[in-house]
Amino acid sequence: MLHLISLNDWKAELIAEVLDMAGQIKGSPENYRNALVHKTLLMMFEKPSLRTRVSFETGMSQLGGHAIFYDMTTSPLGAGKETIHDTVKTVSRYVDIIMARLFDHAKIVEMAQLATVPVINALTDFEHPCQILADLMTVREKKHRLKGLTLAYLGDSNNNVTHSLLYGCTKMGMNIRVGCPPGEEFSPSAKVLREATATAAEKGCTVQVTRDAVEAVKGADVVYTDSWMSYHIPPHKLNERVRVFTPYQVNAELMKHAAKGAIFLNCLPALRGYEQTAEVIDGPQSVVFDEAENRLHVQKAVMLKLLSTSKK
Ligand code: CP
Ligand code: NVA
Repeated sequence: MLHLISLNDWKAELIAEVLDMAGQIKGSPENYRNALVHKTLLMMFEKPSLRTRVSFETGMSQLGGHAIFYDMTTSPLGAGKETIHDTVKTVSRYVDIIMARLFDHAKIVEMAQLATVPVINALTDFEHPCQILADLMTVREKKHRLKGLTLAYLGDSNNNVTHSLLYGCTKMGMNIRVGCPPGEEFSPSAKVLREATATAAEKGCTVQVTRDAVEAVKGADVVYTDSWMSYHIPPHKLNERVRVFTPYQVNAELMKHAAKGAIFLNCLPALRGYEQTAEVIDGPQSVVFDEAENRLHVQKAVMLKLLSTSKK
């Protein structure tokens, strides 16, 4: 049975298959109206969400199934009254597929090990695979290929989106350059860098981390940034993080160093004047709402693929 926990677990062929399926679903959604009739998705949330919650719930209803939103703060698990083991064993008897947005990545790994239905990582502090599948779909739509392109990621890089990009881009043969401040707190995990670099060597692409924002962006086909204040970062860190990340802000001056026709991505939520300026996110190179829309299509494909491998 297949899960979606880390993009590092997925082979390039599987990613390509899901992206192709997502394109077909986007083109002819009416063909999939009854694809998941009588199927139920459980959506467990420990953190806030707009896109993930609404796109999964809408996607499931457009496929003829049903989605349940479950706020973990109101669960026995969240109250410390029940274990992950008993929670997952119980819900596996009710629903056909589970997605969870959690703080601790180890917990989603544990959930997938215990569940008897497929489990989807809807963001942990460590990875955000659904987002990166939508990003790859968006880049492919705009640039008509993935292999050989260069993506530059700027800003907070000890970050779920950065980690999934490192895995996702290298699997698909894309070069990735990360521009971030020095220090473990702001840089990609050493383990992810090691694994992505090994994949890059296999696929004939490159991984680079630089402290120089211009060097990161030079000639890039895609420029990507993410919030400096991810959901798990405490509010008292704001001033320090603004100071540290400001040299990596994506503004019109920095965009000039990217390739002609480069596109701008941000997984959203975004704050204008922080990780990017309004001029960039609201400008002609920005494709952030196509990117957000593609969450809907790609997650339908993910659910269809995972459920096709489920024994239930
Ligand atoms: N990009 C993303 O996952 O957005 P939400 O936090 O709104 O779900
Ligand atoms: N890195 C961000 C992504 C939000 C979708 C966070 O974890 O909050």
